[in-house]
Amino acid sequence: MRKIKHVAIIMDGNGRWAKKRGLPRVIGHRQGVESVRATVNAAKDLDIKFLTLYTFSTENWRRPEEEVNTLMEMLEEMIRKEIAELHKNDVKVNAIGRLDALYPKPRKAMEQAIEKTKNNKSLVMTLCLSYSGRSEIVDAVKKIVKRDRDQKIDLDDFKEENFTEFLYDPELPDPELLIRTGAENRERISNFLLWQIAYTEVYFTKTLWPDFRKKEFVKAVQDFEKRERLFGRVK
Ligand code: IPE
Ligand code: IPE
Ligand code: MG
Repeated sequence: MRKIKHVAIIMDGNGRWAKKRGLPRVIGHRQGVESVRATVNAAKDLDIKFLTLYTFSTENWRRPEEEVNTLMEMLEEMIRKEIAELHKNDVKVNAIGRLDALYPKPRKAMEQAIEKTKNNKSLVMTLCLSYSGRSEIVDAVKKIVKRDRDQKIDLDDFKEENFTEFLYDPELPDPELLIRTGAENRERISNFLLWQIAYTEVYFTKTLWPDFRKKEFVKAVQDFEKRERLFGRVK
């Protein structure tokens, strides 16, 4: 069986889950927090080392103010509520994105969670917040230009690995598997991890995020394990 180290997830479908039940969208987001908990535990059980969750995209700032406010409040609440259990489970909390753009309260809660769990080893849970793949690449290019001003970069020797060092978290390996839930008529990447998914296997499921639990996660991993990865080679 192929060893899988890093799974990334586009957690989509909260709004539709609520709508199907005649409930406000926020209830779908709340239910989605349960799926985060279940997925973190499932990842730990499968000995996966990195779980990266698309939580709030740069484009999500375009949602109605009321929904953005609610998501920011929920983010803070979720972190404060879950931190003890995450810490007990040896989960290291991590975040990537334009974190300065977050509301101050969730940002503070996030910083505290990162600090508290920084020495944990079993699983790195990365929340992508105010994140987009393109802004990550633009921010990397800005850092490169700045670095070059201070200390000339040898362009002849500049390779893909050198670019990776300027991403939000250079320690994050490329994911082997990317899952998108709620993917019916939405088989797209929505500006997630563009650099890192160059050769990632993608798994789309119609299951809406609030319904996505351990069984679904295991199914996705098993599907991945059957795939032949050639990276451009022939068999
Ligand atoms: C994903 O669910 C959660 C976030 C983007 C924050 P959606 O809110 O996009 O749910 P749908 O796609 O409208 O069902
Ligand atoms: C992707 O979902 C972003 C997150 C899950 C955080 P969206 O619901 O924002 O994606 P689009 O707009 O349908 O592509
Ligand atoms: Mg959506």
